[in-house]
Formats: sequence, structure tokens, C-alpha cells
Amino acid sequence: MGDFMILLVNKDHLFNENMISNFKMVEYENYNEDMLYIEEETFKHFEMLRAHLRIEGIEIDIDDAYRSLESQENIFLKFMRKYGLDKAEEIVAMPGTSEHHTGQALDIVIKMDNQWVVENEDLLANEKIFDRIHRVLKYFGFILRYPKGKEEITGYSYEPWHIRYIGEKEALEIGNLTLEEYLKSKEEK
Ligand code: DAL
Ligand code: ZN
Repeated sequence: MGDFMILLVNKDHLFNENMISNFKMVEYENYNEDMLYIEEETFKHFEMLRAHLRIEGIEIDIDDAYRSLESQENIFLKFMRKYGLDKAEEIVAMPGTSEHHTGQALDIVIKMDNQWVVENEDLLANEKIFDRIHRVLKYFGFILRYPKGKEEITGYSYEPWHIRYIGEKEALEIGNLTLEEYLKSKEEK
């Protein structure tokens, strides 16, 4: 990808529109007939990932991708009303701190017994399928962005559905590091 730059957006690194001024966003209608916007390379690689998994008997789709500041705010408010502020902060980013603003983060869903599994609790219960999905992400340039055991570093609880495109070379190189740790290790080199 040449001079492909990995964007870091988290609680300490705020999103700004300049980050994506060169991105091309593509439209995609998902299983639920929602129109989603996704950064072009991310979508191309998602399609390859999906085709690969289909051969393995796993069906995936995208539940959410690019989010505006306003849509992130609505999600945050919805979770805050449901779970309270502290819990909401562990599971949803405040507007301006979500990597969904980049169009390179995807929330995926899986199909089981001909039904789309979409609720967070139900997705969390399908650990074995997600293990198989996570194992192949790197070959398509994706990482599992909020892994188990790294909550202190990422700032979020485990999200098996949230994958992030960073490019194939980098995804193969990152190993078990979080994006935060990986970018820091590169700075130190
Ligand atoms: N659920 C992730 C952290 C987000 O809201 O961006
Ligand atoms: Zn997400």
C-alpha cells in the first residue's frame, strides 16, 4: 500500500475530518437493507474475507461501518440510557473518539441456522465461530481491535465483532499487540 498510514483514533487520539479527506467511501447495502459507507480498500478486503469464510461454512455481513459524529452520539446516548454512563464508556466511544468515523472499522454479524445474529450478547456467546474468524483476519489486512485481556490498553471491553482494516503487511506484522502497542513500538524503532 506504499505510504499507507495507519490512523489511530481512541480516547486519547481524537478524530478529525482531515484524516479521511483522501478516502474514497463506497456504499453498501447490508443484510438489513441499511445503506452503509465504508472506506474503499476496507470494503474490498472485507469482500475477500467474506468469500474466504464462506468456503469454510461461515457467513458474515456488516452491521455498521462509517459513523458520523451525530450517529456516534446517538449510539452513545442509547447505551448510556440503557446501562448508565460508566458501562456505556466501556462499550461505546464518545463522538470524536470512535474509529468508526474513519470508515475502516466494521462491526460484523454472523448467520446461524439461517438467521442473522446481531445482538452483542448473542455474538459473544458464539465464541468458537469468532475464534475461527479472528484467526484469518490478518490475511485480509484486518485486526481484532478490542481483544480480551487488553481492555486496559484499548479502553474498551472485548468486542469480537469489531474489526479494523490496517493493511495486509501491518496486520501480518502486528501479532498479539493492540494497535496502540504496535504503533508505539514502531515509533520507538
Ligand atoms: N464500540 C466502539 C468502541 C466504538 O463505539 O467505536
Ligand atoms: Zn465497532
